Amino acid sequence: MKMKRPSGFLKGTFKHVILVVIGLCFVYMVKLSFHSKECDMARIHYVNPEHAKRAQKYAEQVVQAECRPSFVKKGMGRLFMEKYSMNASPFVRRDIKTQEAIFKYKPPFGFHKFSEKLQDLLELLPEYDLPESLQSKPCKRCVVVGSGGVLNGLQLGYALNQFDIVIRLNNAPVQGYTDDVGNKTTIRMTYPEGAPLSEHEYYPNGLFVAVLFKSVDFDWIQAMVKNETLPLWMRLFFWKQVAEKIPVLPKHIRILNPLIVKETAFDILEYPEPRATFWGWDKNVPTIGVMAVVLASHLCDEVSIAGFGYDLSQPNTPLHYFDNLCMAAMNGQRMHNVTTEAKFLQKLIKERIVRDLSGGIHCDFCRKTS
Ligand SMILES: *[C@@H]1O[C@H](CO)[C@@H](O)[C@H](O)[C@H]1NC(C)=O
Ligand SMILES: *[C@@H]1O[C@H](CO)[C@@H](O)[C@H](O)[C@H]1NC(C)=O
Ligand SMILES: *[C@@H]1O[C@H](CO)[C@@H](O)[C@H](O)[C@H]1NC(C)=O
Repeated sequence: MKMKRPSGFLKGTFKHVILVVIGLCFVYMVKLSFHSKECDMARIHYVNPEHAKRAQKYAEQVVQAECRPSFVKKGMGRLFMEKYSMNASPFVRRDIKTQEAIFKYKPPFGFHKFSEKLQDLLELLPEYDLPESLQSKPCKRCVVVGSGGVLNGLQLGYALNQFDIVIRLNNAPVQGYTDDVGNKTTIRMTYPEGAPLSEHEYYPNGLFVAVLFKSVDFDWIQAMVKNETLPLWMRLFFWKQVAEKIPVLPKHIRILNPLIVKETAFDILEYPEPRATFWGWDKNVPTIGVMAVVLASHLCDEVSIAGFGYDLSQPNTPLHYFDNLCMAAMNGQRMHNVTTEAKFLQKLIKERIVRDLSGGIHCDFCRKTS
């Protein structure tokens, strides 16, 4: 059959259709390559039992030493001076509307153009501090548990359970991994797409800390607070399946103060301020992990980390402790600058402001000769 030559107008439309199709193919290919690099953890990941013992001993020493009040804040102040805001409140409070700085940037760095949605949300949230039982402790020792494959086989679970506050990130599971990651969750910090789908990952008194990136994130968290389901059409705006309900009471839900994200990105990591780019972000968004470390510095007196450190020079090692992605998958992402983040964490650990319990960033307990 002979095709009619498209008119000028149609040509333009046709071009767009072709572009969209090419774009979709590209996205599909990226997705494919992301999924095809699976790591056989059992085969690749061998942990020397001596190394695991040293890690456990080191973590035990950290939790048994006397807790030093304000230790981490003093350290951050020394390192970053006025760039670190000593008195930032970790979670969004009702009086946030009086703080103009918050409305200068778009999410996740601020609430520019979101003051109404924010207002609606804040009216539903009765609390914005740590629960009284934790608040009243004179010295709080916290650990941020990252998702890194470096946790496999170290059996740090027992030591991690002894921290006052255990912060977990996104969908990193506890069920099935308690020997390595413990079973205590005081805070789960995540964006909507990261919220665990399994109700067993939520604990009765755990806090749920939401990090808001986009307009539908406000709708999602509001629906969760009200124990409603989000309309189907809205779900299309998320880049993966989001939880329909989360078994958390409104009094246990918090919104991360975007000032913490702004401080992490522009002041501490010294990323350039946001520019609009066609593909979304500009490698200036910190990972939830680094945001959580900065959050912990505001919440706690002492901070440790475990499960941090992406060793990009080992593309075939497991990326996470709970799935079979390879380290190589990290090279495909476009939001985060892993190198800059690792340097920041290394600095904190070498200056002894933060302890690295699994040694993936900087190892204080590893045998020097290895
Ligand atoms: C964690 O495990 C210990 C021992 O297995 C158990 O006693 C405790 O109740 C568990 N805690 C939670 C929050 O599941
Ligand atoms: C949320 O709604 C479900 C029904 O959809 C109900 O079973 C559950 O008890 C509710 N949860 C709360 C905390 O009200
Ligand atoms: C990460 O940031 C550093 C500067 O801090 C820059 O030199 C490097 O090119 C960035 N890497 C990527 C992949 O954007």
